[in-house]
Amino acid sequence: MAKMAASIVEHGEDALRKLFKFYKRRNPPPNFSDVIDFSKGLRNEKVVSAELSPTAVSDNDAHIAGLQPVREWHAFGLKGYPGFIFISNPFLPGSQRHWVRQCLKVYPQKPNVCNMDMHMSETETEHLWEKSADLMRTKSFGKREPKTLLEKLRWVTLGYHYNWDTKTYSAEHHTPFPADLHTLSRHVAAACGFPAFTAEAGILNYYHSDSSLGIHVDESELDHTRPLLSFSFGQSAVFLLGGTRREDPGTAMFMHSGDIMVMSGPSRLLYHAVPRIVPAPAGVPVPLPLLQGLDEGHPQESLVHWVEEEDWEVCTKYIQMSRVNMTVRQVLGSGQAFPPVETQRRTLSTTKETYHEASPEEGEEFYPKKTRTSTDSSLKS
Ligand code: OGA
Ligand code: MN
Repeated sequence: MAKMAASIVEHGEDALRKLFKFYKRRNPPPNFSDVIDFSKGLRNEKVVSAELSPTAVSDNDAHIAGLQPVREWHAFGLKGYPGFIFISNPFLPGSQRHWVRQCLKVYPQKPNVCNMDMHMSETETEHLWEKSADLMRTKSFGKREPKTLLEKLRWVTLGYHYNWDTKTYSAEHHTPFPADLHTLSRHVAAACGFPAFTAEAGILNYYHSDSSLGIHVDESELDHTRPLLSFSFGQSAVFLLGGTRREDPGTAMFMHSGDIMVMSGPSRLLYHAVPRIVPAPAGVPVPLPLLQGLDEGHPQESLVHWVEEEDWEVCTKYIQMSRVNMTVRQVLGSGQAFPPVETQRRTLSTTKETYHEASPEEGEEFYPKKTRTSTDSSLKS
């Protein structure tokens, strides 16, 4: 079986799509032995160590942001993918809970935008957390119970709000970027050699056990010299990293809770996808790094806050089956401005690939053309 994934990679034509289908398959489930697991260090011959800038972030700044000192981080690269950096869970014990709570309770709130805003009124989508919390606490999975708003959440946009139809960002549609995520992103980018990075746009993706994200490139940002940061929490996923062309072969890797991925330089515009969520085996409902809350002694001025048991109860219930991913982007280079709308349209019409496009045979992914605004069958979980 392990050979199978390898032979798919070798056979040229549309290799990434074949790999996507291989890992997405339900019956029989795929063999995961070719999936690189960075939590196992340099065990895989394709994995190399990545050099970070340990002095770019002071230990105190890292601590306040809920991160280990940078010199303690386990950062890796992948042979053949210059500019790709994988940081294996650099978070301090307990601090991941803060980000899970932000993604479920805080970031979906106005003025941020979520998938349900596309077809529901503001009165229906507001207080999403309050409307879902009690129902989530008493929910027994496996039973056919109506989905809470929280479970219908598929994406949230922050800062410059990505327009899924025009595939652009614009000066007109902007709200303040969350300060805590801005700081976290600044530290991670600085440690990776990008001290001038500014978090300007965020796309949060919410995955359930049968969700996937189609093959795409993130190219709508105007300055591709700035890295793209990706933070994962909750259940693990298989992530596929491809080449600069859709048909190039790819490499599969696990993203576990707390892992951070940085796509920069020659890897900034590579095709990628998430074919599968890999829930923990029965009896291990919550990924280990989420089992524990913050220490009593965590500094007052900390960016990450203690999550009250009442809230954590809801988060645990959610995260038992789900994964949350935050991608953070800088949209404009320094001194850069958005081009006039007319120019943007012209550029778009000559762009062959579309963001988050999914070919029909890839099935139930996020954002398939035209249907991504709804929580209907195309996004079903
Ligand atoms: C994205 C993306 C990957 C992930 O949002 O553009 O590629 O791991 N997300 O969820
Ligand atoms: Mn992406």
